[in-house]
Amino acid sequence: MKTIIITGGAGFIGSHLVRLFVNKYPEYHIVNIDKLTYAGNLANLKDVEDAPNYEFIKADIVDAEHIFSIFNKYQPDGIIHLAAESHVDRSISNPNEFIFTNIVGTANLLNAARKIWGDKSEGKRFYHVSTDEVYGSLGKNGFFKESTAYDPRSPYSASKASSDHLVRAYGHTFNLPSVISNCSNNYGSYQFPEKLIPLFINNIRNNKALPVYGKGENIRDWLWVEDHARAIDIIFHQGKNGDTYNIGGHNEWTNIDLIRLMCRIMDRKLGRKTGESEKLISYVKDRAGHDLRYAIDSSKLQKELHWTPSLQFEEGLEKTIDWYLENEEWMNNITSGDYKKYYEDQYTKR
Ligand code: NAD
Ligand code: TYD
Repeated sequence: MKTIIITGGAGFIGSHLVRLFVNKYPEYHIVNIDKLTYAGNLANLKDVEDAPNYEFIKADIVDAEHIFSIFNKYQPDGIIHLAAESHVDRSISNPNEFIFTNIVGTANLLNAARKIWGDKSEGKRFYHVSTDEVYGSLGKNGFFKESTAYDPRSPYSASKASSDHLVRAYGHTFNLPSVISNCSNNYGSYQFPEKLIPLFINNIRNNKALPVYGKGENIRDWLWVEDHARAIDIIFHQGKNGDTYNIGGHNEWTNIDLIRLMCRIMDRKLGRKTGESEKLISYVKDRAGHDLRYAIDSSKLQKELHWTPSLQFEEGLEKTIDWYLENEEWMNNITSGDYKKYYEDQYTKR
């Protein structure tokens, strides 16, 4: 039986990955380490929490001693590291949390892996899950390739870039078997409603203003979260040590086109007149340092490891909207309490 530690498994992408691994690999012991910040929610994992091959440990990756004691006890064969502060707007208002969790936290995991594996690291793997935002911002043309130079421009992307560098440095200097993937924007169920798609679904449902930053001309490349989880599974098992894999949907949308599409779908689902939800669009002050365009070239992953996205975007978006409409209680639970204060600071005072 292999033991795999997944960090950040109670978050958006982490919960999809935990679910995939617990169900697909009954022979693995999956240990989910998560601090349960505002973004971590054990309700995301209700359907697997009693599985015999699953275990949850509440821990902060910034606490080096606690992390080492867990690694020492469980002697993992693999680590898949997703725990992070992940929202760009929060990194603008509070960069330090990002520096501690994303940089120091990653270093603590690398040190713990190095200590327990020593020179017997053959067959082990440290997988670091990263973002395309480390590459900076594109103009109208071109794509991020694995060879694109890093040019992070927000505290979030700078902290992720820094953690990527640490993982590569530990691979190079200490022969720590490691692999990195950089993925584009994800969408799907269980995403915290601070990110564009769930935030806007919730606001449309509640007839609240839709705060579009700047002119809404920024472009993102959207990938269904379950396709990201499948890519991580493939790379974890078949990727080459020391390599990087870009993951993306070849699915670019300007924010405003995407928002209009969401409004049209929701008009239909909520029985509103066509054009009704669009009236909620409100252009607000732009995000500081707002990256114009992200677009991923994932041909390496497609050619070498035969991964392809499974869902067309329109179909995925419909499914996603249905999920949020059907899971009102999940949404209401996380939008009570602290969320209200966050929303006020981020939007009402803008
Ligand atoms: P998320 O914010 O939904 O979840 C992050 C999880 O990490 C939460 O469960 C949180 O409790 C946990 N966490 C935060 N700080 C911690 C700490 N100090 N110790 C232990 N756990 C801690 O994030 P997500 O969107 O699921 O992203 C997961 C990973 O994927 C991140 O590393 C992110 O950089 C990367 N990524 C995200 C996207 C995206 O579109 N969401 C795209 C590419 C890459
Ligand atoms: P987000 O979901 O925060 O992801 P990221 O910034 O990591 O790409 O935002 C996606 C895009 O939507 C980004 O260009 C910023 C924009 N946006 C808004 O216009 N309004 C909002 O309220 C939010 C949260 C994002």
